[in-house]
Amino acid sequence: MKKISLTGIKPTGTLHIGNYLGAIKPAIALTEQYDARYFIADYHALNMMKDPKMMHELTKEVAAGWLASGLDPEKVVFYQQSSVPETLELTIQLMAFTSKGLMNRAHAYKAKVQANTEKGEDPDAGVNMGLYTYPVLMAADILQFDSDVVPVGKDQVQHVEMAADIAQAVNANYKSQVLKIPQAVVQEDVAVVPGLDGRKMSKSYGNIIPLFCSEKELRKTIMRMVTNSQSVEEPKDPDKSDIFALYKHFSTKEEQDALAKRYREGGMGWGEAKEALFQAINRELAPKREKYNAIMADEAGLQKILAEGAAKARPLVAATVNRFRKAAGID
Ligand code: TRP
Repeated sequence: MKKISLTGIKPTGTLHIGNYLGAIKPAIALTEQYDARYFIADYHALNMMKDPKMMHELTKEVAAGWLASGLDPEKVVFYQQSSVPETLELTIQLMAFTSKGLMNRAHAYKAKVQANTEKGEDPDAGVNMGLYTYPVLMAADILQFDSDVVPVGKDQVQHVEMAADIAQAVNANYKSQVLKIPQAVVQEDVAVVPGLDGRKMSKSYGNIIPLFCSEKELRKTIMRMVTNSQSVEEPKDPDKSDIFALYKHFSTKEEQDALAKRYREGGMGWGEAKEALFQAINRELAPKREKYNAIMADEAGLQKILAEGAAKARPLVAATVNRFRKAAGID
């Protein structure tokens, strides 16, 4: 039997190339070797996002984006968190085993408290209970499927460790393996994807290359990448170029060697390097963009895919909830 891989995807912004290289592609690659369960974490997003139109639109965009990128809903249990109410029952079960002190130590909560304190505000200003107990819902997401591995970014490792701590507390109390202990998997090699201005590509820096914009907009965005003022004639160092760093993700070894040679020879301007980057990115994204647009145009079809995913998830989660109930004497 294959091991189980699980991850949650927060619908918080329009997908960009950084998401694609850092999260979507590696997570889809894992679906070959694991039994994967991936979901849209809309109740996690609700803690921050109170605009219903945005919630609806981003949920749709992110789900369509993962499907268009190659996630196969026949192979992966792919669903919306809010469509599996059993997760919320498990959350309450886990609450009884989660110390308040553990939540106080969560990085996201601590950062918020520190920012408030520095501004001279009430330490808990703007902190709702959903945010404070965020790691418990996330623990339920993970533990509900007896997940073996959880592919996440570095910032989420602590949350996965908390899920393991909570599971251990349950198992220790009932002296049995009620819940499986999960492990975080961090994709190290794709760590930093440079944005338009040289900083890490991130929505909050406003330096993103969108994943599913039109071809015209893609070219225009790439042409806006910041470069130095070296002339066309001057030889250039590919290893110091963000354009080249991005190109590497979308090209073969031979293509990279050929472009690196042109950098070093001189006679190639930044405009030409950007055009090569555009061609490489567009080659990979053009068929995905077409698929994305088709999914976005068929909302009923997308709802159906997600509903089928939830129907597969619910009995699996119910089994875990019932195992807990039995262990706890609530049956
Ligand atoms: N907290 C994750 C993030 O911000 C999203 C998430 C929710 C998640 N539940 C999860 C990730 C369970 C992995 C496993 O990106």
